[in-house]
Amino acid sequence: MKHYWDREIEKFDKIYENEKNILERFIDIFRKDVIFERAEIVFRFAGKLDSNSTVVDLGCGTGRQAIKLARMGFKVYGFDISERAIELARSQIKDEKINLDFENCDVVKKEYPECELIVGLGLMDYLTTDEILLILRQIKQLNCRFIFSFPYRCIKSYIRFLYRYLTGTKIYFHSPEEISELFRSVGIDNVKMISENLSASVVAHNFDEKPV
Ligand SMILES: C[S@@+](CC[C@H](N)C(=O)[O-])C[C@H]1O[C@@H](n2cnc3c(N)ncnc32)[C@H](O)[C@@H]1O
Repeated sequence: MKHYWDREIEKFDKIYENEKNILERFIDIFRKDVIFERAEIVFRFAGKLDSNSTVVDLGCGTGRQAIKLARMGFKVYGFDISERAIELARSQIKDEKINLDFENCDVVKKEYPECELIVGLGLMDYLTTDEILLILRQIKQLNCRFIFSFPYRCIKSYIRFLYRYLTGTKIYFHSPEEISELFRSVGIDNVKMISENLSASVVAHNFDEKPV
């Protein structure tokens, strides 16, 4: 996984940039909206937290969400298995005075700090059920809020599966029922799902309110 993302992270990150070649613009058709929409959900929910809250971003990539959350005033930890992703994330904050720590680590093995919110966008896609359960058990212990995206099976997701398979990794899909069952199996019952405007993915969270 580490080598895959060291190689692929810059390609993935292009989604957030404006200058693209034809192939990159074609790939945008399948994922750009969903990636922006799920990030928006995180920012809208995070807006409900106390300003002195701590947020942990699992699989933070180049830090696009972590940096924005830190700019919102939160203490933020961004963890990612790819050294290259963490290097790029750090290079984006330079000397900015925000409360943000990036760390190169495997979030399946990492012990998370005390926090009010754990976020994982585009992470669960690449983890096996056993790995996801290790993460969810920590969340249960920390008793914090969470927001995770999961991919589910549909035509678009099979195209993504093929793309990732051809470039060297696997995607694991879950139906919304399977996702609820994963949470339930570690004792987390109050999971809600958002799927509108998210095409081939679902956002699972435990906020009571709507993300307005
Ligand atoms: C699709 S990218 C999403 C990046 C970021 N969350 C975003 O939405 O822009 C998936 C990220 O998960 C990271 N990742 C995958 N498995 C991981 C693991 N076991 N531990 C930490 N990071 C992991 C990859 O290195 C990659 O940066």
